[in-house]
Amino acid sequence: MEVPFYEYIVVGCGGIGSAVVYWLSRRAGKSAHLLFAYKHKTYVLFIYPPHVRRTQVYQTDASHFPCVSQISMWAEAEKESGIQLVYKSGSLDFTHKGTAGEDLFRRYCKAMDDGDIPYDLMDAKELQERFPQFSGPGVSGLVALLQKDGGLVDAASSNAVHVQLARGRGATVMDNTAVLKIDTMDDGTAMVHTSRGRFRCRRVVVTAGAWSNNVLGSLGVHIPLVVSQEQVTYYNTTNMKDFTKDKFPAWIYHGDPHDIYGMAIHGNTCSKIGIDCGGFPVTPDTRTFIPDPRREEQCKKFIWMHYCIGPMQYLGPINYTKTCLYTMTYDRSFVIDSLKSKGKPQVVFCIGAGHAYKFAALFGRILSELAIDGRTDLPIEPFTMDRPAITDPSFRPIYQNKLSTIPQAASKARL
Ligand SMILES: Cc1cc2nc3c(=O)[nH]c(=O)nc-3n(C[C@H](O)[C@H](O)[C@H](O)COP(=O)(O)OP(=O)(O)OC[C@H]3O[C@@H](n4cnc5c(N)ncnc54)[C@H](O)[C@@H]3O)c2cc1C
Ligand SMILES: *[C@@H]1O[C@H](CO)[C@@H](O)[C@H](O)[C@H]1NC(C)=O
Ligand SMILES: *[C@@H]1O[C@H](CO)[C@@H](O)[C@H](O)[C@H]1NC(C)=O
Repeated sequence: MEVPFYEYIVVGCGGIGSAVVYWLSRRAGKSAHLLFAYKHKTYVLFIYPPHVRRTQVYQTDASHFPCVSQISMWAEAEKESGIQLVYKSGSLDFTHKGTAGEDLFRRYCKAMDDGDIPYDLMDAKELQERFPQFSGPGVSGLVALLQKDGGLVDAASSNAVHVQLARGRGATVMDNTAVLKIDTMDDGTAMVHTSRGRFRCRRVVVTAGAWSNNVLGSLGVHIPLVVSQEQVTYYNTTNMKDFTKDKFPAWIYHGDPHDIYGMAIHGNTCSKIGIDCGGFPVTPDTRTFIPDPRREEQCKKFIWMHYCIGPMQYLGPINYTKTCLYTMTYDRSFVIDSLKSKGKPQVVFCIGAGHAYKFAALFGRILSELAIDGRTDLPIEPFTMDRPAITDPSFRPIYQNKLSTIPQAASKARL
């Protein structure tokens, strides 16, 4: 039986894969082929701009993606679908004066100045004037950084919109299809073996998140990654009106040892808090879906006692805590590359490093260019495989700009 041939196959349909399929379909039309495995995930929401700066800070000696192009990439799918995906609630970074977080702020400000990105720097008083929600005992000594154009992107809608638009242009979508292995062929094509048979293609884009090494492993490639089990908690607040998107920003507190974040109510009637990189290492097979009560408690304490938003009843009884996975490289930066250097230019792949959702639309476009043209004009040099975090076996993981080894990261999670 002849093996069906597609020009392009995309493996994995999370945020990045669905954006790749969308961008591929804009140029390749009917030949774009998306393989969907496992259950389609419905992520809730992700802040987008705050981490833009973090990316820039990671890459202090290299060029970075302009914020504008990142936001305009979401706008493309919004325009085409008529469905709003991005909500500019504003985004707020804050920290206490005299902490490591303040140094980070200086670097953020420099990166934004260099990139001509507007922001407001505020002290505690100004913050409270602008957002009276921040009024708890921990407010004094805060310093805050507001980006008016920051906000949320609705991940569940965005993934669905990207896929539906691609389908509209003839992309074939196969869900519940696991890719078992990929072989590169002598004629320059790739053979993709799936639970529903084999498919051949000119280029395959692998966006398999925590499962990336399972898929890339069959090509003899192993990317050093730590997968951690993270969680976010939703609270049945009784005071919804102070936390709507027109009044309340997406926020992230830069603390020690963790950053803690939340955002305006969206998608349900609950407020939300999560700890960034507060989880313990797992594999996709050993992960559980069980919330860690210690982290729930830590989030509650953060709001109630140490910092800020207590009196306005941000919290309420926990409605639910949702677990999910971060897939992190040791420098916590992205990988966007092909296996050209390994003699396998058929294969393009991306690792989101636990903070890529905001970039999914942009990365989708870049990956589609790598697949179609073999190159992109966008500055992806910092994200190639050829860097110590990927190639040097003695590289020690750096998370949140803090040096920590994996065992330490794990013990922190057990605090
Ligand atoms: C709690 C939490 C909060 C986060 N907050 C933010 C945030 O505020 N801002 C931000 O930018 N990012 C955030 N992130 C990170 C962001 O969600 C990820 O970087 C991004 O979603 C990664 O997308 P992806 O497409 O690479 O991977 P995924 O979304 O994991 O998708 C991988 C896909 O591949 C499929 N797959 C795997 N193996 C196979 C196979 N063998 N065959 C076929 N398909 C396969 C899977 O089923 C899945 O559909 C957060 C993540 C978590 C967990
Ligand atoms: C609680 O979570 C469920 C989903 O699990 C959601 O449908 C419901 O709206 C949430 N409750 C509130 C009060 O928002
Ligand atoms: C939160 O709200 C949801 C939906 O209204 C309800 O089902 C759930 O019981 C509430 N949880 C608590 C702990 O009050």
